[in-house]
Amino acid sequence: MSPDTTFLQKQILELKEQKRAIILSHNYQRDEVQDIADFVGDSLELSRIAATKECEMIVFCGVHFMAESASILSPDKTVLLPEVEALCPMADMIRVDSPRPVRTSYPGFSNPPAYVFPAEFTLRDIKRKYPGVPVVAYVNTTAEVKAESDICCTSANVIKVIESLPGDEVICIPDKNLSQWAARNTKKKVIAWDGYCNVHERVTAEDVRNARAEHPKAVVMAHPECRLEVLEMADHVTSTSGMLRHALASDAKEFVVGTEIGLMHRLRKENPGKIFYPLRKDMICPNMKKTTLKSILRAFQENTNLVKVPDEIRIPAKRALDRMLEIT
Ligand code: 13P
Ligand code: SF4
Repeated sequence: MSPDTTFLQKQILELKEQKRAIILSHNYQRDEVQDIADFVGDSLELSRIAATKECEMIVFCGVHFMAESASILSPDKTVLLPEVEALCPMADMIRVDSPRPVRTSYPGFSNPPAYVFPAEFTLRDIKRKYPGVPVVAYVNTTAEVKAESDICCTSANVIKVIESLPGDEVICIPDKNLSQWAARNTKKKVIAWDGYCNVHERVTAEDVRNARAEHPKAVVMAHPECRLEVLEMADHVTSTSGMLRHALASDAKEFVVGTEIGLMHRLRKENPGKIFYPLRKDMICPNMKKTTLKSILRAFQENTNLVKVPDEIRIPAKRALDRMLEIT
């Protein structure tokens, strides 16, 4: 570790104590950010901690919707997002009532989406088209979208959430891949939105064939944000923390990891005798990588980049998040 890193980490830890803060990090964050966090986890685990952990401040090392969820669940805590521009493009693919602005580029993405969802559609349009059908919002959505949805889900619990709802149909937004995966695993009719994560969407069946040829003994794990063709070829489909649990419990010695490469840090740290290969080396979420030790320190010192959801949105959005937390 460089002296610079050690110095930054020391300063951050001092400020953390002074401000009675906790640092939460998503599994995709940079290695040195994960190493300084109090908790590293998937979206579901981090939501739970944000809702229950005693503290005055939460520094959320992740993307904007995650910090928003922390603010929704813990309105009395100060929630700080070290990088304001750390956004999730998928969360921006659905709007409540004003058409989503058509984006032609996503800052930081070398591989922009091949298409964008028709901008004239909104969540209210789809609700009008399917009146009375419950809406399941993936946590990768804005607070406004959560507020208009019946329940939230994460990649760890989508099937359980869908199964918990009355009726034979559900609307599942915004990730078409997660929705298709859920549809494969439930008898209910799943009405999907056309959103996607362009980090996971870029993986193809060809990539899985190549990985299997190169590492014939490896277990292939894939995140449900990957295309259905990829998921059908994988040995294990699960959330980021689900992959950590699977790697730990499995007798296998080699694994191909079909998700953002930030997860490799914990996989390797927690499984010293096992080998992990990325399914694609370019599975890098530029938004997750925006947060650095310097940005955490700056945000702490300046108390900037606070995320606060106004009550008129927070209260209905909390209902959707609480329902999810209650059933899982
Ligand atoms: P997890 O809930 O599996 O951590 O995934 C969050 C995410 O953004 C995946 O791209
Ligand atoms: Fe969003 Fe994909 Fe990045 Fe996750 S990996 S935050 S879904 S862009």
